[in-house]
Amino acid sequence: VRVDVHFAPAVVTAADMHGRVVVVIDVLRASTTMAVALHNGARNIIPCESSDEVVVRAKSFERRDVLLAGERRMVAIPGFDLGNSPREMTPAVVGGKTILLTTTNGTGALLATQGAREVVVASYVNFSAVLSMLRAATRGDADIAIICAGKDRTFALEDATCAGHFVRGIKRRRDSVVLGDGAQAALLLDRRYAQDLGSLFNDAEHARALANAGFGDDLQVCAAVDSCPVIPIYADRQVVRLGSERER
Ligand code: MLT
Repeated sequence: VRVDVHFAPAVVTAADMHGRVVVVIDVLRASTTMAVALHNGARNIIPCESSDEVVVRAKSFERRDVLLAGERRMVAIPGFDLGNSPREMTPAVVGGKTILLTTTNGTGALLATQGAREVVVASYVNFSAVLSMLRAATRGDADIAIICAGKDRTFALEDATCAGHFVRGIKRRRDSVVLGDGAQAALLLDRRYAQDLGSLFNDAEHARALANAGFGDDLQVCAAVDSCPVIPIYADRQVVRLGSERER
């Protein structure tokens, strides 16, 4: 069994994902927002490339059943119901709804996962739940590719560090698991920051940008390890909680 970490979607090829369990991480904030929304009762999330796609897709739903959500430059898209803040995804707002979501990096990384055997959306808020699924997958000999959504298609410190946390968990008491160089590097970052996500968010550029843009409170939500124990699976162009597939 092999685990690879890819620090930016721009360098990931179809071959890197083929037949693997793929983990998409966008700690700040798309992965966190999706996990929070599903934990709080959203029916499903449909990732979209663009705000135009959100608007077009919304037309095939009853208006009361969908929420149009997304950001550009961190700020909610004009005319949409929601931005990309996990704090907006309350049970009262998202319960029973389909969320059409477009974000700068996270949704694009998800949409680029063709060929994967299974795709899961991961962050710190659903760490242990996703880890248990990944450990089960490796017991069944599945290779894993962790894809960091990154920042403008390049490296983002918080995603790489979270990837390292998953690598550590997958590797624990499993000497036979082989780590690629990206996974080894991610482990080093996890060693530096695992006990202090506050310091991770002090150092990470996108965390500082969010704080400067008035989203500082989101960082606490994003650092709340295991607060949303859901396993969000992306298949058939939508993200649903593992176990809720029958609702599709
Ligand atoms: C993204 O997908 O780029 C992020 O989630 C941006 C954000 O912080 O909203």
